[in-house]
Parts: sequence; structure tokens; C-alpha cells
Amino acid sequence: MKRKRQKSRSIWIDITFSIAIILLTMSAIYLIFMTEIGLSTSKSSTKETTGAGAPVETEQIDSNYPGIKIITKTSNDKRAPFAIQYPQSIHNEFNMEVKNYIDHVQTTYLATMMEEHQIDEKTTGELNISYETLPHVSGNYSFVFLNSSIFSDKDVGKMEIRSFHLNPETGESFSIRDLFEGDFLRLQTLSSLVRLAIQNDDSLKGHLFQQEMERFTEPLWMNYRNFAITDDALIIYFDENTIADRIVGPPIISLSSDLVQDLLASEFKPKDNDDAIEIPDIGSVGVSTEEKGDKNFGETPTHSDAINDEQTETTPPAKTERKKVALTFDDGPDPKVTRQILETLQKHNAKATFFMLGSRVEYYPDIVNEMIEAGHELGNHTWTHADLTKLGPERIAKEIEKTSAIIEEVSGQKVEAFRPPYGAVNTTVHNMTGLPIILWDVDTLDWKYRDPARLLRVVKEHVKDGSIVLMHDIHQSTADGLESVLTYLKNEGYDFVTVAELENTSP
Ligand code: NI
Repeated sequence: MKRKRQKSRSIWIDITFSIAIILLTMSAIYLIFMTEIGLSTSKSSTKETTGAGAPVETEQIDSNYPGIKIITKTSNDKRAPFAIQYPQSIHNEFNMEVKNYIDHVQTTYLATMMEEHQIDEKTTGELNISYETLPHVSGNYSFVFLNSSIFSDKDVGKMEIRSFHLNPETGESFSIRDLFEGDFLRLQTLSSLVRLAIQNDDSLKGHLFQQEMERFTEPLWMNYRNFAITDDALIIYFDENTIADRIVGPPIISLSSDLVQDLLASEFKPKDNDDAIEIPDIGSVGVSTEEKGDKNFGETPTHSDAINDEQTETTPPAKTERKKVALTFDDGPDPKVTRQILETLQKHNAKATFFMLGSRVEYYPDIVNEMIEAGHELGNHTWTHADLTKLGPERIAKEIEKTSAIIEEVSGQKVEAFRPPYGAVNTTVHNMTGLPIILWDVDTLDWKYRDPARLLRVVKEHVKDGSIVLMHDIHQSTADGLESVLTYLKNEGYDFVTVAELENTSP
């Protein structure tokens, strides 16, 4: 961006400016020097600025993995903050590969934010890049990056997973092709195994795009470029919104090592347990099919973490002052997550509303009965989680009717509430729905962050008397974060009611 030179600028400003530039250059040279020759102390930190002039703090610490350092870059710029974390080895080529990716994401983010600010200067974005290290007994490392960005308050943001792979001894990186020795027949087997795993994945039920799924799992090396190999599994990462809808995040498919070991190059075949390496505790590893989707990517200090949660008072206000909140859970039921949520609700004697997908009710009818027994409200969230505004009246009717029918058949109760997927409604949707359309005013974005602590932070920030809170009972992190949300709300004087109860009492 061009800036007009002020003719009257005093020489002192020039001098101050030059000194600042020299200091910046020196610190940049210092940083490059330290990292190139790997002489750094265990922790060092430097300051630079973004293009927009906001300060950037860079910190370098040793990781628990030999030869790998962790670089953290943060900017607390109010409107374009970021927190970036990436590994650095003693191998230049690998470091450049990672650095190029990081720089690309950061530059794109800052450029987009600059454009956004030209439209509305108050727009705030957020960029978080964190990674986890997954070691393999062969000594090889897979580094899995989760990059999540938001470009404005209205934007739901996007999540991206990228993987990098390093043999720390040789400095060479390896690809999925190397794992399978470039053998097409083995690639075909991988493709079939992945498809089978996708079809059997509970968390993807009702969220899959069948045609796209087939396309993105075709036996092409590039379809499997994002992966991690551990002693227990080969993990494949798909892009968000490709094989399944965005609500489930980037799909992660884990194939246990006994399924794939015969296909792997000898270097990557699992060895006997005796020489299994001790796994250091930094970065979570050992992803099983059940845990996937809520792996802790939370190594990076996010901006929100920097904000201290104030202590809240613990004396519940008197009965007369009590407020009401309707907690709602979408996209379930899920055999594990929904049950945990039901238990937590029970513990606090809290009622909630579940907006369910007909396709999942069909799989898990028992859970629906548990909801009924506990006094929760059942809602309709369509059969396939389709964006109804893109469908004709007949398809819309079918999505809704089929779902109400199965819920009623399973529970013996009438469905009295409907929530359209993505909150997407138009006149046709309105006309085709005989049920009250229930949206929300507090969006926890739990599907995006998968962070139990963040759930409470969002609720704290936005909840008010009469709020409807949107959550999803298909994410483990939501079930894990619910307890503290309930405790907080109770202390703040809230009663937990169903959507119908809230509607009945509202003025
Ligand atoms: Ni939904």
C-alpha cells in the first residue's frame, strides 16, 4: 500500500524510523543466524512486525523430540491477530518446505484481512496454526498441521490439515508414495480400505457426500498426500467440505497398522514391541478411530487463551431472579458423545433439546429413548443434513417428513420443533415446514474449534436470559466441555429449559 510522504516530516522522525529499521533488520538477521546454525539456547524470543506494523513475537523452544525445535509466532494485533506454531529441524530443505507453507498461509491471511478492512475497518479475523508430532518406531516423524482461520465476524471460517514428513537422520522427507514403494496395486488396496473405513465411521453417518467421497478416495497418490504414520495406525486426512459436510470438520480416517502393515515398505513395517520408542509427552499421539476428530491440537497458545477468564461469583441468586437458557444439540445422536452429554445433563438436572438427523436416529434408536426418559425435547434436523434452500419443495418435504416419522416411530412422541441445517431458510422452506423453525442466538462454533475450554468462553461471552445455545452432540470436545458450561450457568442463575418451554414462557 502506498502512503503519502509528508513533506514537513521532521528529521528526527527520519532518524527514529531508520533506527527502528536497523534494529528490526538486526533482529531478523539474528533470528536467521541462530536458527541456521542451530546454536540457540533452549529458549529465545524476538520481535518483528507484520506488514501492517503490528508487533510479532517469535519464540523458539526445544521440543521433547531430539533435533526438533518449536517456533511460535504471535501477533496480538486487534483486528488481524494470529498464533502460529511450527517445527524446525537441523535440515534446511525440510525447514524451507514448512516455512514456505507457513508464510503462504500467513501472507494470504494478512492480505485478506487488509482487503476486509477496506470494506469495514472494524472487521476482526483470527488465524491459528498448530501442529502435532507423530513419531514412528522407524525414527521418522509426521508433523500434522491444523490451520484454522476466520476472516470476519460473520464468517464461519475454515480449517485445513496439512502434513509434513521427515526422516531426522537423513533430512529427507517422505510421501505416501514412499510408504507404499510407489506400487499402484497397494494404492488401490489403500483406497478400498479407506472407503470401507469411511462407510463404517459413526461420526460421518448422515454427513457424507457420496459422489465426492468416491472421487476424493480414488487410487491417486495426491488424494492421500495428507497422512501420518504411527506405530498403531496410518492416518489419512481429508480436506474440510470434500467427502463430508463442513459440520464434521476435516475428516480423519485411521487405519490400524495390522490392516496396512503388509503394504508398507520394510522401513515402515511395525517392529516387535521391544524396540518401541518411548513417546515424549508433548503433542498428543496414538490416535485411535474413537479419539479421532478431537485430537488435541491445542498446543498453540490461541489469542483467546491470552485473555484471562475472570473468576465468577459462586453464590446462585435467589429463585425469583432466575433466568432461562435453552441448550440445543444438533446433528446427533451419537452412541458415545450423546450418552456422555445425557449423563452430564442428568447430573445437573438440566433439560435440553436435541435436533436430530433422521438418518442417525435410524442407526441409534435406543439413544432417542434415553432422551425421552430423561425429559428432553426431540427436534427435527432433516434426514441428510441438506441445505434446504437448494432443494425443491418435494425434496424438502421428504427430508422433513421422513425425519419426523422415524423420531415419532422410535420415541412414540410427536416432534414439535424443526431446525434447518446451517440455519438456511427461504420462503419455500418456510411453507413446507409445518413445525416452528428454531434457530439460535449463541453459536458456540464447537464443531470448528473442538476445544472444551472454548465452549465455556463463548457461552460466557454471549449468553443472556432467554438464549438458545447451539452445540453439536457429535463432538467429544463438546461433551467434555459441557460440565463447566452447566456449572457456570447454574451459578449465574440460569435454569435449563427445552426450546418448547422457553417459547411458552417468553412474553
Ligand atoms: Ni446441523
